[in-house]
Amino acid sequence: MMLGPSGPHKAPLQTQHRRLLLLAMSRRSGTCIVVGASSGIGLSVARRLAVEGRKVAMISNREAELRAAAQTIDDALGRPAAFPYAHDVTDLDAAEALFARIEQELGQVDELHYLAGVMPEVALDEFDLAKDRLQVQVNMLGCIAFGNAAARRFLARKSGCIVGITSVAQDRGRLGRPVYNASKAGMDCYLEALRNRLWRHGVQVTTIRPGFVDTQMAKDVKGRKLPAAEAARLILRARDRRKPIAYVPGKWRLIMFVIRNIPSFLFRRMSI
Ligand SMILES: NC(=O)c1ccc[n+]([C@@H]2O[C@H](COP(=O)([O-])OP(=O)(O)OC[C@H]3O[C@@H](n4cnc5c(N)ncnc54)[C@H](OP(=O)(O)O)[C@@H]3O)[C@@H](O)[C@H]2O)c1
Repeated sequence: MMLGPSGPHKAPLQTQHRRLLLLAMSRRSGTCIVVGASSGIGLSVARRLAVEGRKVAMISNREAELRAAAQTIDDALGRPAAFPYAHDVTDLDAAEALFARIEQELGQVDELHYLAGVMPEVALDEFDLAKDRLQVQVNMLGCIAFGNAAARRFLARKSGCIVGITSVAQDRGRLGRPVYNASKAGMDCYLEALRNRLWRHGVQVTTIRPGFVDTQMAKDVKGRKLPAAEAARLILRARDRRKPIAYVPGKWRLIMFVIRNIPSFLFRRMSI
């Protein structure tokens, strides 16, 4: 006979607690919010969530593109599944009210995906505060605004899932795009802190660090790029496996391990 601390056949309390947490994390039926859903990876994530049978609140800035993107999902599924909410994420103070409005109109949200991002061209001798500010606002502060709105609710409900798309670019400060790197590193660090706060309360926080993906943002990148639909599949697989951090595709974990460990005195002489 198996004897646990609380009597015959009973799993230890810690194990029971863990099982309950995992159960809460895997129950997914509520509304999803996808921020940055009008194109690229975000649109593919929204489409997959809709196929899963979820209601998807799609957020991005350009209203016509967003509406058209939502319509393609509804047309493909033959039912209303995608709901466009035009919003500029740099309007940080409006995130909380928008989150509340979505819950009022579509029901309780249990999943937030943050993919809004910008990566302007920056010359090697350019130090442009306007471009820098925009990247920090869209890539990092926007994530914090929506992350806080989700975290507050998910913590109270002891369930929910936050997925944030940072980048392999967050792993190192590079000469090409200093503030893209910095904004993604800030976002990545915020998500780690959120995870450390929330995971123990049954709330999942998954950070995704993609390599090159074939979207408008990476149009000038030469070489092999992952199709956006495949990136979305891997992102939701990482969500399902409750990964804290996932490189997409997985080979980037090893590549970035090597790059992270290049000593600074060598790295600053390189042009990667
Ligand atoms: N493509 C890559 O190789 C790659 C690699 C690593 C990480 N990522 C990250 O993956 C995420 C998705 O990028 P993507 O490649 O799919 O590029 P994308 O097609 O350019 O998508 C960017 C999304 O962000 C939204 N967005 C930008 N500024 C916004 C604002 N002010 N307010 C609201 N939404 C805004 C865009 O909507 P609007 O068009 O309406 O503004 C669009 O939906 C980004 O965070 C990016 O940094 C991409």
